[in-house]
Amino acid sequence: MFPGEIDVQPSTYLDRLGTIFARFGADTQDSGNVSYGVQTGAARYFVKTAGDPANTDPYLDFDGRVALLRNAVALAESVVHPALPALHAVVESSAGPLVVYDWRDGDLLHLNSGSAHERFRALPVEEILAALDTLYDLHADLDAAGWVEGDFYDGAMLYDFPTRRLTVMDLDTYRRGPHRNDMGRMFGSRRFMAPEQLSLGAPIDTRTTAYVMARTALVLLSEPPPALYAVLQEATTTRFPSYAAFHRAWLSARAR
Ligand SMILES: Nc1ncnc2c1ncn2[C@@H]1O[C@H](COP(=O)(O)OP(=O)(O)O)[C@@H](O)[C@H]1O
Ligand SMILES: [Mg+2]
Repeated sequence: MFPGEIDVQPSTYLDRLGTIFARFGADTQDSGNVSYGVQTGAARYFVKTAGDPANTDPYLDFDGRVALLRNAVALAESVVHPALPALHAVVESSAGPLVVYDWRDGDLLHLNSGSAHERFRALPVEEILAALDTLYDLHADLDAAGWVEGDFYDGAMLYDFPTRRLTVMDLDTYRRGPHRNDMGRMFGSRRFMAPEQLSLGAPIDTRTTAYVMARTALVLLSEPPPALYAVLQEATTTRFPSYAAFHRAWLSARAR
């Protein structure tokens, strides 16, 4: 249903394909990417592009933005999980790829994007824990496929309050395999970042993923049950040797 390539601008193509009902551009995103919600028949898609090739305001130039989109495609092709919007197609254009995902309903849990963050934190603890279980299960799959966390924060989560479904998106800066911090202060929100993500040359690996996931729970849970709190504390102080070790400790504390 999607062509391999188009010879018009992304928005022109999407206008012809159906109805553009949402647009995420410079007014909300500092990435330089421009994304669209598109409805065609009964289907709704989230279509992400690298935006205007001439836009050099963002941190990443057009080629850098395209490279991250292709990285996101590699991630989506290597891990299929209910928390991830399914990848439908990659359509090539002179403005870079159009990456076509499922549209997911939900509110962005980002602290600075409205009231959903506080509304989520006010949910019954078991409901928050169920969402964290999903997030951690997804990261078990990502970790097993070699993906290392990058720039994860509450703005990468959509929560659909009526159905209690968590969606995780915008994992474009995850990297495959352990690597070294080549930026100094890496992309990311300070509340979620591991110390090595602030230190040039430091190793970034599965342990980093464990730290950031534990920070996420500490940000989202106002009162973690004691057994879980102990795991989250360990993950952010003495640290776990791997994401898998953190996840095992989380699951066994959950079962208590
Ligand atoms: N699959 C999706 N379904 C619905 N909305 C989405 C989806 N993925 C992302 N979004 C929304 O689009 C916004 C921009 O997408 P994102 O991937 O974060 O792009 P950027 O690279 O510009 O940060 C997100 O903040 C979120 O609100
Ligand atoms: Mg984003």
